[in-house]
Amino acid sequence: MLKIGIFDSGLGGLTVVQAISKVIKGAELFYIADTKNAPYGDKTTKEILQYSLDITEYFLNNHHIDALVIACNTATSASISTLRKIYPNLIIVGTEPAVKPAIEQTKTEKVGVLATPATLRGDKYQSLIKNLTTTKDVELYEQACAGLVEHIENQTLKSKESMELLKRWLLPMKKANVDTIVLGCTHYPLASSVIEEIMSKDIILLDSGRAIANRLLALLKEVGYKNSGELELNLYTTGDIDRDFVNRLIGKSINTIDL
Ligand code: DGL
Repeated sequence: MLKIGIFDSGLGGLTVVQAISKVIKGAELFYIADTKNAPYGDKTTKEILQYSLDITEYFLNNHHIDALVIACNTATSASISTLRKIYPNLIIVGTEPAVKPAIEQTKTEKVGVLATPATLRGDKYQSLIKNLTTTKDVELYEQACAGLVEHIENQTLKSKESMELLKRWLLPMKKANVDTIVLGCTHYPLASSVIEEIMSKDIILLDSGRAIANRLLALLKEVGYKNSGELELNLYTTGDIDRDFVNRLIGKSINTIDL
């Protein structure tokens, strides 16, 4: 059975697992929620790279994975080029903010980008923006959302503190007539309803889940993967995790193993 390792700092990457389960049929998924080191977004590039290297080594040594999905924008930014150099034969799919599709579809030509501080300052995002080929004159409203991942993990999104933060970030976008927001962190789809509440129901929120799943399938097909059978999910965590939340996201009761 094909084995796929997936990781994130916590619950966020499960939004990618949801997208993968719609596209990939037969495989054994091994998911690590690295909650001991969460949030990644306010760590240094060196630290995030080390977490990513350790997790990949764990997957290869213990589960002999055929493919790796970095279900985290922040970890992708810090580690994907190094991982590709160290493991040239491993299929590696990363996550990157869906800025291009957002630019293609905005009508007001104003796009918001929400991401972690590490993602926005990282070379990968900077070169993504620099190399965008577009004839549209779109204005980007970038916002580093320090603290949002913790509110999502702790389920305190609706708290006064969290709502104040979100309003501080989003109301200027609303005022500027932003019609599309890039969710540049895999945790942020879990905040969609609160973002809609502040912006309006008509706001278009773009995450990268489906693009990751399709890219993974395309790469697997290149090496002869047939895409049939059952999908199995094994969940590991390096620290605390809200198991009920995990079960709700996955839609069934999952046995979470402490690493
Ligand atoms: N879910 C992650 C991302 O896509 C990491 C968030 C964090 O731990 O700060 O960037």
